[in-house]
Amino acid sequence: MSELVFHSKAGQPEQQKTPCLVLPLSQTKKCPSRLAGLDTATGGLLSRVWKNKDFSGERKQCVLLSGNEFFPRIVLLGLGDTKDLNEYQIKQLVGTLWGQLSRLACKEATLDLDGFETDAYETLSKTLARELTCASYKYTTTLGKKPTPPSLTKFTLLSQGKSAIAAIKRGGNAGATVGQGINYARELANLPGNICTPTYLSEQAQSLADQFDTVTCEILGEAQMRELGMHSLLSVAAGSAQEAQLIVMHYQGAPTKKATHCLVGKGITFDTGGISLKPGAKMDEMKFDMGGAASVFGTVKALASSGAKVNLVAIVAAAENMPSGTATKPGDVVTSMSGQTIEILNTDAEGRLVLCDALTYAERFKPASVVDIATLTGACVVALGHHATGLYANNDDLAAALLDAGETTGDRAWRMPLWDEYQNLLDSPFADIGNIGGPSAGSVTAACFLSRFTKAYPWAHLDIAGTAWNSSPKGATGRPVALLCEYLASR
Ligand code: BES
Ligand code: MN
Ligand code: ZN
Repeated sequence: MSELVFHSKAGQPEQQKTPCLVLPLSQTKKCPSRLAGLDTATGGLLSRVWKNKDFSGERKQCVLLSGNEFFPRIVLLGLGDTKDLNEYQIKQLVGTLWGQLSRLACKEATLDLDGFETDAYETLSKTLARELTCASYKYTTTLGKKPTPPSLTKFTLLSQGKSAIAAIKRGGNAGATVGQGINYARELANLPGNICTPTYLSEQAQSLADQFDTVTCEILGEAQMRELGMHSLLSVAAGSAQEAQLIVMHYQGAPTKKATHCLVGKGITFDTGGISLKPGAKMDEMKFDMGGAASVFGTVKALASSGAKVNLVAIVAAAENMPSGTATKPGDVVTSMSGQTIEILNTDAEGRLVLCDALTYAERFKPASVVDIATLTGACVVALGHHATGLYANNDDLAAALLDAGETTGDRAWRMPLWDEYQNLLDSPFADIGNIGGPSAGSVTAACFLSRFTKAYPWAHLDIAGTAWNSSPKGATGRPVALLCEYLASR
């Protein structure tokens, strides 16, 4: 997969030599005076466009024009009112723009940032580079007949003022790195369950450790997990021919004496529900049930390639949830690594069972914060739909930092209650805790279950069941890599 590269440059649009000049423009009734030079250089082309009412700058309008010998193509992109452009709208705009540019037979495009009418060049470049990188991703790995990739591989981010160039460069690099992390997460999540198994994920961790000096990894197989008493995690893999893996990646970007933060990802590489078998419709989508793990891999990759100054332990609890003669049965009781016993009333509530042991394991790193990421409950999709990730936390500062990171990146989360009142829904007559809480508040009781294992540190839980993938067209979103990168970079 070839990746987009971003360069920065100072200069006027009409002075550029580029196969494609992209001019983002706010809504106006006539050619903006800022582009008078360009209008002259093209023999009045731009004035004619406005005169003929072929372009007004209405949001998402996109017009392709023939330019001159120095810039044979000009693309006008309507921004609407630039004052109310948010991350989400920029993402939509980039989608439109990429739809146009990806069909052109040119390798490079120069994008005039001044058209956005903002001084926040670093943020703008970061958002554009991230979203363009995401827009350029296409899943092709298991296609027998691969589509021809777009010619475009390079963007020049242009601004008139020299003073903005350093900021544009920083933003462009940072955004591209996060975008590549997002695309990596999408690729892992899009891979089918017969390829992306727990051991496949282990190999990914090993490959990240090979790629980056700052990353190391250790992998625990089932024998080691049994020794540690991780019987909850192991109970999920009991029916599968695939060995469960506890994958631990260490990223060291700051001195050893600095705080360590933990990420814990749910890595169910396929969730049939186990003996509490899921209905057949859309069951294929349960290959995305390792979306939390994928986001952890994407975040490690992005942090490592940008050299973020943070120390991170990234844990992935990987297993396949299958029914079989050796599978866990409803009513079975297991002892977790924490010593708490669990009555498994529904084998389809398996995410919390793998996470609880991984969360107990995280204690040994004396983390300053632990964030778990999981496609945990259908109930979260009912509550929040597909736009907001569900956020739960036992610490208000941590919750605020994550909400903030979500706002900044347009990868938003919404806080949900973790009140004591909900806890008794998990009571069991046969164990310390049941693994389901009944029909009401399903996303909350899942978080309550996890909270029993996270008392030793500031902890937050991100339920990404509604945000990790789209159903039409089907595909992983790479959320919440952008949120996590932003959060960790600010530690
Ligand atoms: N992986 C699913 C959650 C899920 C369902 C994510 C649909 C996205 C879309 C999880 O393992 C699960 O099956 N949860 C059950 C819990 C229930 C048995 C308490 C659910 O949500 O139905
Ligand atoms: Mn399940
Ligand atoms: Zn699941």
